[in-house]
Amino acid sequence: MAQAIPAQISGQPVLILKEGSTRRRGKDAQRVNITAAKVVAEAVKSALGPKGMDKMLVDGLGDVTITSDGATILKEMDIEHPAAKMLVEVAKTTDDEVGDGTTSVVVFTGELLSKAEELLDKNVHSTMIVEGYRKAEAKALALYDEIAIDTPPTDRGMLKKIAMTAMASKLIRENRDCLADVAVDAVLKVAEKVGEAYRVDLDDVEVEKKAGESLVGTKLIEGIVIDKEVAHSGMPKRRENARIALVDSALEVEKPKFDAKINIEHPDQMKAFLDEEEQMMRGMTDKIAASGASVVFCQKGIDDVVQHFLAKKGILAVRRVKKSSMEKLAKATGGKVVTNLDTFSAGDLGRAGLVEERRIGDDKWVFVEACENPKAVTVLIRGGTEKIVDEAERSMHDALCVVRDVMRRPKVVVGGGAPEMEVSSRLKAWGERLSGRVQLAAIDFAEALEVIPTTLAENAGLDPIDILVELRSRHEKGEEGTGVDVFGGQVRDMAKLDVYEPLTVKEQIIKSASEAASMILRIDDVIAAGKMKAPPTPPGGPGAGMPPQY
Ligand SMILES: Nc1ncnc2c1ncn2[C@@H]1O[C@H](COP(=O)(O)OP(=O)(O)OP(=O)(O)O)[C@@H](O)[C@H]1O
Ligand SMILES: [Mg+2]
Repeated sequence: MAQAIPAQISGQPVLILKEGSTRRRGKDAQRVNITAAKVVAEAVKSALGPKGMDKMLVDGLGDVTITSDGATILKEMDIEHPAAKMLVEVAKTTDDEVGDGTTSVVVFTGELLSKAEELLDKNVHSTMIVEGYRKAEAKALALYDEIAIDTPPTDRGMLKKIAMTAMASKLIRENRDCLADVAVDAVLKVAEKVGEAYRVDLDDVEVEKKAGESLVGTKLIEGIVIDKEVAHSGMPKRRENARIALVDSALEVEKPKFDAKINIEHPDQMKAFLDEEEQMMRGMTDKIAASGASVVFCQKGIDDVVQHFLAKKGILAVRRVKKSSMEKLAKATGGKVVTNLDTFSAGDLGRAGLVEERRIGDDKWVFVEACENPKAVTVLIRGGTEKIVDEAERSMHDALCVVRDVMRRPKVVVGGGAPEMEVSSRLKAWGERLSGRVQLAAIDFAEALEVIPTTLAENAGLDPIDILVELRSRHEKGEEGTGVDVFGGQVRDMAKLDVYEPLTVKEQIIKSASEAASMILRIDDVIAAGKMKAPPTPPGGPGAGMPPQY
């Protein structure tokens, strides 16, 4: 039970923790942590796979998110328990590293902990379990590598299958064919060959979304979309074969930074003053026009007078463009962002086949497209409602990530629980040869992998035991690629169904899950500081305002 007083000397309590702190130790602490983590895993389990269900999450402000993405579910759940929070972190790390597999990693961690709990019941010490898990992790990674299939990194067909599999488990699965094409094209456009390998920075793929039209209207723009309108009504709204100036200083007459007074004693002086100002602004416009620019993107403001002069010269200008968008514009058009107009020349200009202001829903956006060999592109997501567009954005993130993963490391495995089953059976055979209690933990690790095919079957309304038995026997016969065909309701060769996933995702799941499980198992003392002094009469009645019991 919780205690704040760890020792007593001749009847006198020695206080080392603040009043209100709670402490749990030994098996008690372990069990509470394991239970908390298992509860989290249980919560996302039903979202795994193409037949998994979606969750509707309502935050404190009443905003609704509908998703089946593991990392998003956990983020929105606003979890409080420290051990449960570690699972949220595991999902987040997996999302940051590989972009997919966030539900699997949480489900697998939960299963590892549940197996560990059984071992703790059998009096196997947690350090033994951790050691067994660590050994099994290393072996599992080697086994995954053994069963992985090499693929050419730019094989469009395979990359599309990878993207389709990642999107198969999402709300937008009906339209995944066109979305997968967009994802593959986007990554191929921004990929750079460095030696034999490919480097892909997904920051170069901007994802914009706007409710309206339908998901089929989602497209790749070979350039950038700026959510701003053309600055002046007299400017052209469309320029073909545009030569683009990118300016990050204000096209205005700078006001002095200190307080200054100008004494004007004669109307001529006033006129001269205004003329001078106008001359400076005309000078700015002339410098831009002299470079041959037909379009200007400015990171800061553009004075009304400058706008007017630019409009007269037929130059399309957009002001207050975000810094990040300016950088992307530079990458997409091949132009340079300049600060000083005096050193500005034609060589700094970027190029685009078309710059045009278009109406998107109830906004006006400027499209910079048909860029030649752009190194930054935009995916514009459309969809029936806000919620669909939001989930499509998350699914697009997964698809872009998995395509990137395969380009970076061109190795894939089939999906549908087949690789988990295969690695599990090989890992068991290897584990049998270990000695001592570590063996028990290693074999449990292997068995925990079966949670993926079992859950896929369960979520598809199939009998998990029947499916597992059949999968085991098929894999024993050497049918490595057999997994759960959730749509056909049977076990099948997943390669025939074109279900492929990046090896990197599977590796990350193994690494993150076993690290998180080991970390939770090593904890045998939970000391929670009192959050605040309990008020004399807590408003919620006795007990309210007390520290949470971990
Ligand atoms: N057509 C399919 N048939 C069977 N299994 C499939 C199919 N498509 C995908 N899967 C499996 O579904 C699982 C992935 O499900 P899901 O995308 O819901 O979770 P995740 O990738 O772990 O997490 P998240 O996508 O939420 O980050 C993988 O094991 C994958 O092999
Ligand atoms: Mg997924």
